[in-house]
Amino acid sequence: MEKINCGIAATGAAMPEKKLTNHDLEKIVDTNDEWIVSRTGIKERRIMEEGKGNTELAVKACRQALETAKVSPEEVDLVLFTTVTPDQPIPATASLVQARLGAERAAAFDLNAGCSGFVYGLVVGKQFIEAGVYRNVLVIGADLLSRVTDWQDRGTCVLFGDGAGVALLQPTRGKGIMSMELGSDGNQYEMLRLPAGGALMPASHETVEKRMHSIKMNGNEVFKFAVRIIPEVTKNMLRETGRDISELGYLFLHQANLRIMEASRKKLDLPPERMPVNIDRYGNMSAATIPVALHEVADSGQLKQGDLIAMVAFGAGLTWGGVLMEW
Ligand code: ACO
Repeated sequence: MEKINCGIAATGAAMPEKKLTNHDLEKIVDTNDEWIVSRTGIKERRIMEEGKGNTELAVKACRQALETAKVSPEEVDLVLFTTVTPDQPIPATASLVQARLGAERAAAFDLNAGCSGFVYGLVVGKQFIEAGVYRNVLVIGADLLSRVTDWQDRGTCVLFGDGAGVALLQPTRGKGIMSMELGSDGNQYEMLRLPAGGALMPASHETVEKRMHSIKMNGNEVFKFAVRIIPEVTKNMLRETGRDISELGYLFLHQANLRIMEASRKKLDLPPERMPVNIDRYGNMSAATIPVALHEVADSGQLKQGDLIAMVAFGAGLTWGGVLMEW
């Protein structure tokens, strides 16, 4: 039987309209535009309006991808929603998106691998396509980090933003996804976490008073981890496929801090124009950073069939993941 390869047939993205600039943040916490820009590269981020959840943006992004690929909602086999900010713990946000899209035939589930979620999702979705089980898999990366941010903590609140991106996976005649790497070091779980609201520490007056429903992070340790893992994963995938960094059209990185991205790019000896950057406009949107950047580049017509691209992410877990593919 002929081997089935998995490619990305279309992308989509949706962002909230409301912008929060560094100057706006200066009025909330003891910070300033110069510090935030020089330490993170972020100038502004988008914030979802109150009363609306993660489903809202994801549905818009999915409709865009389906229209581009001329695929009807009834043809979707799987809605795979990668996020750390589901609309509610139960049910999966994927089921809410499935209903809103009218994707009646589709299976639906959420996947949490921190900011590596979208890359994990691509690898999971690819298995269904390559096995010949499904033909249309929507992999969504969407997060509303503004909802789990401690707006009194200047060390984290300047970093996060909201957004959604999606990739539609389909069988392809090209090579599609050629290499992947996923990893996790759960021993480092305390580096990046949201302590309360789960089964171990359900919401209580105490958890609210102690501000345990927002992200806590050891920024310096996450920084060092990211700068080590990104070049390593990228090189591993290139080596496995016998390709060279000079052949790489674009490297899409998880956008958590421009300094992490720049340090990784320099370690890889990759020219700046091959690493798309949008963190200045959106901040860290967790699972959404890679699919949104991918959509921006794809939508502007800069990706040609056969282009070699890589996507590499890291995040809570600590997790990491990479995918190398021909467009
Ligand atoms: N404004 C002004 N000063 C600040 C701010 C702020 N917003 N935040 C911290 N500072 C101060 C600190 O208090 C410290 O002051 P001190 O020297 O008097 O003690 C000084 O700035 C330096 O602080 P550092 O933490 O050493 O600053 P650093 O350059 O390491 O930057 C940062 C911190 C931006 C958090 C960085 O470590 C980072 O980006 N780490 C990676 C984070 C990351 O990737 N997280 C997400 C991954 S996954 C996910 O998104 C869920």
